[in-house]
Amino acid sequence: MKILYVCTELYPLLKTGGLADVCAALPAALQASGCEVRVLLPAFPSIAAGVHIEGAAMALPAAGGPDIAGTSQPAPRILPGRVRATGQEVYLLDAPAQYQRRGGPYLDASGHDWPDNAARFALLSWAAAWLGLGGDARWRPDVVHANDWHTGLAPVYLQLLAGGGPKPATVFTIHNLAYQGVFPRDTLAPLGLPESLFTIDGYEYHGHLSFMKAGLQFSDALTTVSPRYAREITTPEQGCGLDGVLRHRSERLSGILNGVDYSVWNPASDPLVETPYEYNRMAGKAGAKRALQHLLGLEPRPDALLFGAVSRLSDQKGFQLVPAVLDDLVEHGGQLVVLGSGDAGIETALHDAAARHPGQAVVRVGYDEALAHSIMAAADVLLVPSRFEPCGLTQLYAMRYGALPLVHGVGGLADTVTDSTPETLGSGSASGFVFHEFSADGLRQALHRSFALHRRRADWARVRRHAMQLRFDWKVAAQAYCTLYQRIAAAPGTAHATSLNGSR
Ligand code: ADP
Ligand code: GLC
Repeated sequence: MKILYVCTELYPLLKTGGLADVCAALPAALQASGCEVRVLLPAFPSIAAGVHIEGAAMALPAAGGPDIAGTSQPAPRILPGRVRATGQEVYLLDAPAQYQRRGGPYLDASGHDWPDNAARFALLSWAAAWLGLGGDARWRPDVVHANDWHTGLAPVYLQLLAGGGPKPATVFTIHNLAYQGVFPRDTLAPLGLPESLFTIDGYEYHGHLSFMKAGLQFSDALTTVSPRYAREITTPEQGCGLDGVLRHRSERLSGILNGVDYSVWNPASDPLVETPYEYNRMAGKAGAKRALQHLLGLEPRPDALLFGAVSRLSDQKGFQLVPAVLDDLVEHGGQLVVLGSGDAGIETALHDAAARHPGQAVVRVGYDEALAHSIMAAADVLLVPSRFEPCGLTQLYAMRYGALPLVHGVGGLADTVTDSTPETLGSGSASGFVFHEFSADGLRQALHRSFALHRRRADWARVRRHAMQLRFDWKVAAQAYCTLYQRIAAAPGTAHATSLNGSR
C-alpha cells in the first residue's frame, strides 16, 4: 500500500511542536509495518538543506490550482529525494517565492501570519492532489494522508482534479482543532475553488473559507491523535465551532494515540544525558538533576522536588495557572524550571513569578532542544496543565525519563497518565498526577499530592519505575493507521455529497 503523507514540519529539520515529531516518526513506523510511504513537504530552507535530491524535478501544473502567477518565479516544482539522516523518501514542493523566507513556516519574523498563507498552503494541497493522481508516473499513492489545516484542501483538489474519475482514498488527521486556517470568501477564486462548494456542507465557515473544515468535510476518514480528544471535539466545549461537523461525520472519526520515538527519547541512550540511566540504575538521574541545578543557577538541593516544563506558552498549554501556585510550590521545598515560548503575557507572568524566587525557580524563554532533554532527565515531575491537549508528547517523554507527569485530565493527557490514588497505587498502575478542575486551585491540589507522594519514598520509586517501563510505541499507532488505510482504500466512499459536475 502506497501512502503519500503530507505535512509541514519534520523533526529535526523543522519543528515548531509535536507535529514535527509525529511527521518524522510515523512514516518510518508505517514503513516498518509494510506500507510504502513518501512524505510531501514544502521546501522550507531547513528542510531542503536536510534532503538529498535524487530524481528529476517535476513541474507542478498551474491550471486549476492556486493562482500564484506573478509571485512564483521560478514556477513550483516537485523534487523527489531522501532525508539524509534517515533515508526517508520525500517529495519537496520547491516554490522559492512561497517557502524560502526568513522567519517561521507559518509566521513571519515578527510573529504575524504570513499574509499569503492561504495561497502558500493551498499550493501544498494542490501538489498533494497532483501527486495523488499520478503526477509522478513512477509512484502513484493509494492513500493521501493530510495533516492539520495546512493540508485541508488536499481532498478538495483531489476531487476537483479527478473530476469523478478514480482517485486515492484520503485521511485527514487533526493534530490541533484550534488552528483552522480561516480566510475571507474572496480567497476562493484565486485558489481555484468553486463557489458551489462554499456551503454549510462544504468549506464555508461563518461566511469564510475554512481549510480545516474542508479537510473534515471532504476526506474519507478523519483521525485525531488520542481517543479521548476524538470524543471531546464532538462537544461544543472543545469543538472550536466545528463540533457540529464532527458529530455529523463521527462515523468516520477515530482517535489513534501518538507514540514516542524511543531512539530520540530514552535516558539509557540519550547523548544529552551525561550518565545514562534506567529504572534499575537511577544514579544518572540524580546527576542530571545536579547538572541542571548548576547550569540554571538553582540551589543544589538533591532532595528538592524539581518540577520541569517544556512547552509552547500559548493559552492552550495552561501555564497562566502557574504563577499563582509558585509561592506554594517553593514553600513546600520545590523548585521549578520552565522552558518555553509563545504568548508574551504568559512569558512575562512566569518570569515575574520566578524572579520572586531566585535559586528556586527559573524560566528560560526560547526553543532549545538540548535543554528540553536535560529537563526531562533532571525533573522529578513534569507539568502539563493544558486547558486542552489533543495528544501531548512531553508527558510521554517525561515518563520514560522518570519524571512523573502532572497533567490536566483532558485529551491525550487523560488517555496516557494514570493518577496516583490509593487504588492505582495499590494496583501498581499509577504513573503521575491528574487534576480535573482547570484552575490554580485544581493545580495546587495536585501539586500537594505530588509532594505527599514524594515524602513516601518507596511509593514514589514504585510509581516512577512503572512510568519508566510504560511504552507508547509508534508500532501500535502505525498498525492502526495501516488498518484504516486498507479499509478506506478497499471501499473508497463518496466522501462528500455535493456534486462537483460543472462546479468550476
Ligand atoms: P504541541 O505540539 O502542542 O506543542 P506536544 O507535546 O505534542 O505539544 O509537542 C511539543 C514538542 O515540542 C515536544 O517535542 C517538546 O519537547 C517540544 N518543545 C516544546 N517547546 C519547546 C521548547 N521551548 N524548546 C524545545 N522543545 C520544545
Ligand atoms: C498538536 C497538539 C499536541 C499533539 C501534537 C502532535 O500540536 O497540540 O497535543 O501531541 O499536535 O500530534
